[in-house]
Amino acid sequence: MPKQSIEHPNVWVFDHPVIQDKLTRIRQKDTQHTDFRRLLNEIAGLMCFQLSREFQTTEVEIETPLQRTEGKRLADPVTLVPVLRAGIGMTDGILQMIPEARVGHIGVYRNEETKEPVPYYSKVPTDIAGGPVLLIDPMLATGGSASYAANILINELGCKIVQMVCLVAAPEGAQRLREDHPTLTIFTASIDSCLNEKGYIVPGLGDAGDRIFGTL
Ligand code: PRP
Ligand code: URA
Repeated sequence: MPKQSIEHPNVWVFDHPVIQDKLTRIRQKDTQHTDFRRLLNEIAGLMCFQLSREFQTTEVEIETPLQRTEGKRLADPVTLVPVLRAGIGMTDGILQMIPEARVGHIGVYRNEETKEPVPYYSKVPTDIAGGPVLLIDPMLATGGSASYAANILINELGCKIVQMVCLVAAPEGAQRLREDHPTLTIFTASIDSCLNEKGYIVPGLGDAGDRIFGTL
């Protein structure tokens, strides 16, 4: 199970050895996009398996080839919301665990100069508030992009259960989300040291979108 951060109680960190091994390989600068994508999706699937343990289930009656019996099914539709572009890099790994999940998209990029989020797209299921939502973005840096996306989900659409899945979080982003969205829980493989003067996470892994899609 992930461990709750003492300094950032809104953040749960996966210190699982297999996840940490994959994260270390992802961080290495000579890891090319083919391996980067695969490892990122593998981590996302492993994280999702754990963080979904609080999802509600409902009892159903079914018939096996031998007899009638009771089983459990997920009670509510699950929606994944990757933040474009880099969130796409974790989505397939989660869909392998929950293939029936719907996928909404929020498009926002960070202005290089101001670090402010610039929105350009949004399309999510109209009944998204009826089930748990996973907000997906590998990088939580200043928190501007995630806070913008969480605002749509929580304040505009009324989603009650929103969990953020990210790979690496900066303390600055964790703090910002705690202030902006106190009900949002963040799951990550690491809380890194800080942001540099350009707003990049240190030690981080560079530009996640470019590394996922090979656009360096
Ligand atoms: C990256 C990342 C986050 C954002 C994090 O996206 O995927 O969305 O930066 O930074 P923040 O916490 O300071 O807002 P980017 O803006 O590079 O867009 P891209 O995914 O399209 O490359
Ligand atoms: N976005 C990234 O892709 N990487 C960072 O370190 C910060 C924001």
